[in-house]
Amino acid sequence: MAPGRADIKARTLRRDRWWLSPLVNALGLATFVVYATIRSFWGSAYFVSEYRYLSPFYSPCFSASCVPGSSHFGTFLPAFPPWIPLAILSLPFLLGFRLTCYYYRKSYYRAFWSSPPACAVAEPHSKYSGETRFPLILQNAHRYFFYLAFVISVINTYDMIVAFETGIGLGNIILLVNVVGLWLYTASCHSCRHITGGRLKHFSRHPVRYKIWTTVSKLNTRHMLFAWITIGTLILTDLYIMLVASGTISDLRIVN
Ligand code: FES
Repeated sequence: MAPGRADIKARTLRRDRWWLSPLVNALGLATFVVYATIRSFWGSAYFVSEYRYLSPFYSPCFSASCVPGSSHFGTFLPAFPPWIPLAILSLPFLLGFRLTCYYYRKSYYRAFWSSPPACAVAEPHSKYSGETRFPLILQNAHRYFFYLAFVISVINTYDMIVAFETGIGLGNIILLVNVVGLWLYTASCHSCRHITGGRLKHFSRHPVRYKIWTTVSKLNTRHMLFAWITIGTLILTDLYIMLVASGTISDLRIVN
């Protein structure tokens, strides 16, 4: 028994289904990781040239291997072998942003490491060092991943806007919903809250930052919700674009 812990022999005295939440989280996170990994290495059906729909898993596309029209910012990188994802410049940072996210940390620590599995349920590990040692001390880099993810959200927004040049279809609506979700998730980040209002001694002397911080703080209370919504919208957006790009379905056009 860890020092300071109550001397209770039972692993937990809870009688409710405390295991349900970590189980659902594990299934949800695993589904996203498997889907995102497969699609990132897929290498095709990520761009609909007719409507300029670009999958967020392939943005920005800088390689000479990118299909014509999908590189909104040029192709200054050479052709990639098939085992390198085309969005190699953004995917590691997006992964780092989600992996070090305060909410996801709680979620996957509970779901995959049982550390702890739930409130008032003893964890199976005999030692606990928190995030004070390597590799978990790297979680402190979250703020830097936030800056990079912010830039990538701007790029995703640009991708979404240029797709409207060809008219409006269901794909545009899906891209728009995804981008709104990404901004809500990014703006509600705990690091964003600290960047906008942290280290200030007098809010009264910084009314603009206070206003922004107040808004971010309100969003921050929904951060978990936005984390799950964006997992869903990212999969939905990519899946829809894959189906249209591969000719499996046609885009539902609203305005041509
Ligand atoms: Fe979740 Fe920053 S993205 S805390």
